[in-house]
Amino acid sequence: MPRRHYLTFLALLTFPFLQDHVIYLHRVTLTWFQDVNVPEQWGFLRNQVTPFHLTTPDGETLHANEPAGLCHDIKDRLAFRLLKDHPDAQLVIYLHGAAGTLGSGWRPQSYRAISAAAPSVHILAIDYRGFGPSTGWPSEAGLLTDALTLANFAMNTAGIPPERIVIFAQSLGTAVSISLAHHLALQSPPTLFAGIVLVAPFADVELLTETYRIAGTIPLLSPVAYFPKSLASFNRFIISKWPSKDKFAALIRHCEHLKLAQRENDYDIPWMYSEIVFWHAVNATRDREASLSFEELESEKERQKLALGAGGWEMEWRGRGGVVREQIVKHGLHDRIMSYPIVSLAIARAFHSQDWE
Ligand SMILES: *[C@@H]1O[C@H](CO)[C@@H](O)[C@H](O)[C@H]1NC(C)=O
Repeated sequence: MPRRHYLTFLALLTFPFLQDHVIYLHRVTLTWFQDVNVPEQWGFLRNQVTPFHLTTPDGETLHANEPAGLCHDIKDRLAFRLLKDHPDAQLVIYLHGAAGTLGSGWRPQSYRAISAAAPSVHILAIDYRGFGPSTGWPSEAGLLTDALTLANFAMNTAGIPPERIVIFAQSLGTAVSISLAHHLALQSPPTLFAGIVLVAPFADVELLTETYRIAGTIPLLSPVAYFPKSLASFNRFIISKWPSKDKFAALIRHCEHLKLAQRENDYDIPWMYSEIVFWHAVNATRDREASLSFEELESEKERQKLALGAGGWEMEWRGRGGVVREQIVKHGLHDRIMSYPIVSLAIARAFHSQDWE
């Protein structure tokens, strides 16, 4: 594609409406011709997945799944009773990435991989407002409201305590999950989940626009990254900032401050962009005088990281308030990695972090 096209694209992005389409891709339906309320199409057993509706406080109707036929009162369903009445039930709140619906791409495989890791793990997922059959239009505040609605449903309606909940998120979902965890941790009393597993997190939208690729095929803005001036002026127009690295650092700082020594929180950050997110997270566990530069942390990693051969490597950082773990796989794509055991294991580890108590 000639450069001219990228610049055209860039100009279009400065109109908020079109910009939302590019960041959220919510009208890119990756499940053409499929009814998302028939989970059997993706190989699930009858009653293994229960689609239902959640209503947000600001009146949007969200399409949700709890792993036939759409049901209007989830509380009558077997899957819900299994979740609510099982004393050891563990719950994964699943926040998907940009584009598509709950049933798109590798997401069904990823639900299966997560539930295969432990029979007591249930998964709750939603389509954010404006995505799939959900009503409304996506925005930063709106997606946080959607995630809060789901978390409240899990904790208050289904009665699962937060220490038995792990947040799993990919790509755009990582920004939503960090926003959710940050919001709940700062309430009084704070709500802290067992852990957060972030796949393909991005530091913030500004850094993301330098390298983001839509569906892995169209290098959206990377050619413009060679022209830092145009990128800087573009960034001023971005309405959705999703300041993940700063919010994540604030969340970790808060947990350090609470010094919940025996309550381990677990943050797993596999995949690209993770270096910057990991650096901010690690730095947030340190006092101002001991703050680490990016290069210092990189050389620390060279010394400490656990090499896993063709599997990549892993680096663990222990603060007072919890553990931050970065896992880099050598093989795997943005979406496909979600169905890999490394993700299921990260979730299992996050649940087990609670066993320290
Ligand atoms: C690291 O933490 C210190 C405070 O402890 C803060 O002033 C600094 O901005 C942080 N650096 C980064 C890159 O987040």
